[in-house]
Amino acid sequence: MKSFKTFLKHTAKDYHNQSVNPPVVRASTIIFKSMQDIRKMQDKAKKNPTGGHFDYGRQGTSTTHILSQILKTMEECYHVFLTPTGFGSVFLAIFSVVRPGDEIIVADPTYSPTRILTQNFLKEFDIKTTFYNPHDLNTLERNITKKTKLIFVENPGSNSFEFQDLGKIISIAKKKKVYTAIDNTWGTPYFLKPIPLGFDMSIVSATKYYSGHSDVMGGSLAVNKKVFKDVDKANKVTGLRLGPDDAYLITRGLRTLDVRLDKHEKNSKEVAEFLSKYKNIQLLYPHKKDSFNFRMWKKYYSGASGLMGLKIKSKNKNSVIKFVNSLKLFGYGYSWGGFESLALYQDKREQGNRQYLKLEKDEHLVRLHIGLEDPRDLIDDLKKSLKLIK
Ligand SMILES: Cc1ncc(COP(=O)(O)O)c(C=O)c1O
Repeated sequence: MKSFKTFLKHTAKDYHNQSVNPPVVRASTIIFKSMQDIRKMQDKAKKNPTGGHFDYGRQGTSTTHILSQILKTMEECYHVFLTPTGFGSVFLAIFSVVRPGDEIIVADPTYSPTRILTQNFLKEFDIKTTFYNPHDLNTLERNITKKTKLIFVENPGSNSFEFQDLGKIISIAKKKKVYTAIDNTWGTPYFLKPIPLGFDMSIVSATKYYSGHSDVMGGSLAVNKKVFKDVDKANKVTGLRLGPDDAYLITRGLRTLDVRLDKHEKNSKEVAEFLSKYKNIQLLYPHKKDSFNFRMWKKYYSGASGLMGLKIKSKNKNSVIKFVNSLKLFGYGYSWGGFESLALYQDKREQGNRQYLKLEKDEHLVRLHIGLEDPRDLIDDLKKSLKLIK
């Protein structure tokens, strides 16, 4: 099968039960005919730890194994671990390779809970975090010490949408012998494949585009062979496991991932084109050549998803909040990657304590998720509400 689009439609058929989709196998106990049989299974699991040989439900069932296999093909990696949330995958990636006394370097515009985990929580375990400027990778190289274990990247930056030179980050990490992890929730491996590019670990919040319907949470952590053992060990002791019902819903979502992402991209480009006519708005979305960070996006990505930033100039903060509040087709809420459009005003609380995000007093950040509605309706809605900005 040549095309990945075709693979997503034809994979995971269940010929045994004559159904197009695999069954949901729910299990805590997995039963065997005899003691010899359970040992045989355990020996198989030892020899082939990624082969879907389970003796207890915490390790998974055929339903989670199928999802992991689909994602492995998509990521072109050694193995994919599944976690109950995307943030669980962030935690697992870090916890697998970092120990007391070590240091981590994190991209400054990283998703706020990841910042809190690294900067505050890990400090209690004698693990130091420093942040680097996504526009100046010299700050990354300079901050690497003998104790540095991991570079944690999120691309693009959360809410500020900086695209980084991923190849350069990988070559710095290889030179300094440091592990690398990337949060690839925005692009998903449909648009960017971090493991073949050279990252050791790649995280996607399956809550977002994988499931696509805003009704399930999950995470995936794709790894190369080098880190597999470390992550496997950490996964076993933390008991982070995705339930089979959620795994099924995510597998169902994946069937249409390509169709939805293509449409998110098309709609986003139309909306971005419309918004780019406003002189008081700087668009943080790579929709055309002269867009913010277009060159760095183009260098690594084959497409763009539906999440974008708007840097709005206004001396009247309340009028910008009014603009966001009065949108009719954009729900006000967290998360993104579902079929629907969303908006968020990014105040200080949303931004966290970033060192490198420089906003002038009269600049405001708004995040839009462009859903699968008719883009003409979205543009119409935006046009009416934008009139409120003073
Ligand atoms: C970039 C990014 N990474 C990770 C996560 C965490 O995913 P989850 O909400 O599934 O835990 C989020 C959630 O918003 C996110 O935006």
